Amino acid sequence: MRKPIIAGNWKMNLTPSEAKALITELIPLAANAACDVVVCPPFVDLALAVELTRGTSIGVGAQNIHWAPKGAFTGEISASMLKEIGVGYAIIGHSERRQYFGETDATVNSRAKAAIEAGITPIICVGESLAQREGNETEAIVSGQVKAALEGIPAQAVAALVIAYEPIWAIGTGKTATDEQANETVGTIRATVAQLYGQATADALRIQYGGSMNPKNVKGLMAQSEIDGGLIGGASLSAADFAQVIHY
Ligand code: 13P
Repeated sequence: MRKPIIAGNWKMNLTPSEAKALITELIPLAANAACDVVVCPPFVDLALAVELTRGTSIGVGAQNIHWAPKGAFTGEISASMLKEIGVGYAIIGHSERRQYFGETDATVNSRAKAAIEAGITPIICVGESLAQREGNETEAIVSGQVKAALEGIPAQAVAALVIAYEPIWAIGTGKTATDEQANETVGTIRATVAQLYGQATADALRIQYGGSMNPKNVKGLMAQSEIDGGLIGGASLSAADFAQVIHY
């Protein structure tokens, strides 16, 4: 059985002092969670987040990672930098990166490979726009994104990584996919992985849902057979709300 994984994507929110307050409040609330719990703060909060969560069950993730080991890439952060401070996860290919910062399927693939090589677990984001859903393109778009993201990554590494299905129209809008819609598309992702790598790899891989997931709708989504967790934006910025989500 797959262990559920719930991660908070703080996006560009919370200064170091605010991060410290939230994590300090979250630690006791997350102590007996039945799922893996991860927080993904902005880069400047990461070292502090790792220190604060040391010895707890909370993991720490970055929100991006560069593919090159080092060099002239102003504004970027390498896998070895993240590894050295103790970061365990990296969100890769979030739709906000794809939409505003020129992220492509090819760069997502390169970043995922760099993370895996460093022993950092990628959380690879995929998802369709509203126009694509309304045009009945969801399946083609999402499975195309999955194939491109995993290109050249061996089965063993695929089994250990995390994919987040985040329909763009559900992000920050308060409009969640229905339980059935989310489960269906997560099922499509798993079928795509099965096609590429075989059923055992597809059955091991954890796939999250993300998009306006909150204390109210988490239970229904987590009851779905294919959904193994959540990638939480807004509701992860309150320790009390995030705690309710992780204790769904
Ligand atoms: P919201 O939960 O704020 O909709 O954000 C979802 C998301 O993009 C997580 O990565």
